[in-house]
Amino acid sequence: MSDDPKPQANIEALIEAAQQARLHSVAPFSNFLVGAAVKTASGKVYTGCNVESASYGLTVCAERVAIWKALSELSEDERQFTELAVVADTETLTPPCGTCRQIIWEFARGARIVFANLKGAREEFHIGDLLPRAFDARFLKGTKITD
Ligand code: THU
Repeated sequence: MSDDPKPQANIEALIEAAQQARLHSVAPFSNFLVGAAVKTASGKVYTGCNVESASYGLTVCAERVAIWKALSELSEDERQFTELAVVADTETLTPPCGTCRQIIWEFARGARIVFANLKGAREEFHIGDLLPRAFDARFLKGTKITD
C-alpha cells in the first residue's frame, strides 16, 4: 500500500467514470457488479465493466475490459497509464484478481491503482504491492532485470 491511503481529489473523476461503467456490468451469474477506468498520461479515459459468460471461465473482469479497450484504440506511444480506478459495492474494497494483476503489471505498471466502493471508501496501491516479483516479457527475452 502507498504511504497515502487517501488519494488526491483528482482521482475522484476517474472513480466516478468507473462507477458509471459498473452500471453496464453483465453479471447475471454472480450479480457482482464491477467498474473500472484507466487514464492515460495524455488524459484519455477508458472504462470497462465485468462481462460474464455462461461458460464461467470465459468471464472477463472490468479491469481487463478497460485495459483492452484502451490498448485497442491507443497508438504505442500513447499507452502510458497514470491511474486505474476499480469500483465495487463491498465494504472491504475489492482488489483485482490474480489474472488482472498480471495484465496491470504488463500494461499499466506505472499507474496509481485506487480501489473504491459506493460509500466513499478508497485505498491506493501500486501494482508492485499487489504482485511482487512478477513475471513479464523481460524473462522471455533474456534481458537483464533491473527492477
Ligand atoms: N470481477 C471483476 O470484474 N473485477 C475484480 O476485481 C474482481 C472480480 C468480476 C468477475 C466476475 O464477473 C465477478 O466479478 C465475480 O467474480
